[in-house]
Amino acid sequence: MENIIKDINIISKEEADSSCDFKITADENTGKIKKLYIESYGCQMNFSDSEIVASIMKDNGFDTTSDFNHADVIFLNTCSIRDKAEQTVRKRLSQFNQIKSEKPDLTIGVLGCMAERLKDKLLEEEKLVDLVVGPDAYRDLPNLVLQADDGLKGVNTFLSREETYADISPVRLNSNGVSAFISIMRGCDNMCSFCVVPFTRGRERSRDPHSIVNEARDLFQKGYKEVTLLGQNVDSYKWSPEENNKARLNKKSEGVSEVIYFSDLLEMVAAIDPRLRVRFSTSHPKDITDEVLHTMKAHDNICKYIHLPVQSGNSRVLSLMNRTYDREWYLERVQKIREILGEDCGISSDMIAGFCTETEAEHQDTLSMMDLVQYDFSYMFYYSERPGTLAAKKYADDIPLPVKKRRLQEIIEKQNQLSLVRNQRDIGKEQEILIEGQSKRSADQLKGRNSANKVVIVSAGKLKVGDYVKVRITDCSSATLFGEVVI
Ligand code: SAH
Ligand code: SF4
Ligand code: F3S
Repeated sequence: MENIIKDINIISKEEADSSCDFKITADENTGKIKKLYIESYGCQMNFSDSEIVASIMKDNGFDTTSDFNHADVIFLNTCSIRDKAEQTVRKRLSQFNQIKSEKPDLTIGVLGCMAERLKDKLLEEEKLVDLVVGPDAYRDLPNLVLQADDGLKGVNTFLSREETYADISPVRLNSNGVSAFISIMRGCDNMCSFCVVPFTRGRERSRDPHSIVNEARDLFQKGYKEVTLLGQNVDSYKWSPEENNKARLNKKSEGVSEVIYFSDLLEMVAAIDPRLRVRFSTSHPKDITDEVLHTMKAHDNICKYIHLPVQSGNSRVLSLMNRTYDREWYLERVQKIREILGEDCGISSDMIAGFCTETEAEHQDTLSMMDLVQYDFSYMFYYSERPGTLAAKKYADDIPLPVKKRRLQEIIEKQNQLSLVRNQRDIGKEQEILIEGQSKRSADQLKGRNSANKVVIVSAGKLKVGDYVKVRITDCSSATLFGEVVI
């Protein structure tokens, strides 16, 4: 029987990152006996991982359900990036207490970054939890679920240097049938002092480029029009056949060198078909190369949009953050983007307000950096100390919460102004958009995305999801563009 996927929530990075409060809800009915309900929090990597988890569980007798009341197994795929993200999961678990007391056979598992960070402590703290499984141990899930059926609680938070789940074909849970995410690497070696990810996701490793290209090609053949290549730091993607002890690449047919860098991989994915759009996230300012920018320019189907988190506009703070670039380096990279890809290339950022010891003048540097770069949009946070990180060990979290919040508010207001200015620049321009779905506002309107990753609303007319259409931008708000179809 064909997969019937309905009732799908599409989760944007924006929604996911800003609230850490979203779930993947999908019904899949392939005739399996047992039902799995997964709720995912945090970043796109986590959403992508949930699709791998669903695939592993499917091979072991589980269909997914969007209704936890029908589930035999509930997984929460969790995020630890800020304290609030963890509190959200704690609250959710307490809500599941009720269901568990009515249905004692139900298995509840905590997966992802919180599982990795807290390990067996989580079993002590949250009595209803049966399984605690970290991001590199998902192949062990079916086995742990079986053990849980026998009343045994299980923890597997082993972090691997090799696991990329390259051979697992994800069940597309959070997809509109048009765009899909492909994880190209896992982990992170950067050790930004504020960040928990290196501890929860382990060492950086890149996935076999052939498995990535095959996955993208397969998606295209199934009707998908856009893939987003995912990694915490995609620009440090590096794969060499020797290191990975895998098959050698055919140099002649692929036209690439033996070691595959991110620009090579982009090229390979873009070459699948000009009608397949390619996006990627996240770019670290220290690693983004001119080659990547030239590859973007050379291919119309590589979207002209770069998520280039700056975190702070001040060099002293950046140094405390261990970001390994300074204000000048960052501005030079932006200059290069503008030079090679032009003013229309979308640039977005992540910003942290009120990092340890940040002065008022240093905060002003973040605001002036925003003015200089003219970000299209940003994901903005105030600093949340994470146990075990370098910053937690070395620096006092000394900016009072009201000050952090006020600085964050100033950053948000600045971004809103900039987003409006950047969107107004588009009015009158003709742009190609890919239709992704119904607009939230009205059934007569559809929403699409332009190359720079901006949402464009158009009248539905005869258009359908998955169409490429040329529009003229007629109006905008700070969040959205409005367009009319150009005939
Ligand atoms: N790999 C990406 C970031 C992933 S985490 C990069 O390096 O750019 C997403 C964002 O969460 C970060 O960019 C940062 O802005 C924010 N973040 C991470 N740790 C945080 C903390 N302790 N407090 C507040 N925000 C944090
Ligand atoms: Fe965290 Fe820095 Fe790695 Fe991004 S690059 S995941 S902020 S350590
Ligand atoms: Fe959160 Fe882990 Fe992603 S901490 S942001 S889910 S890598």
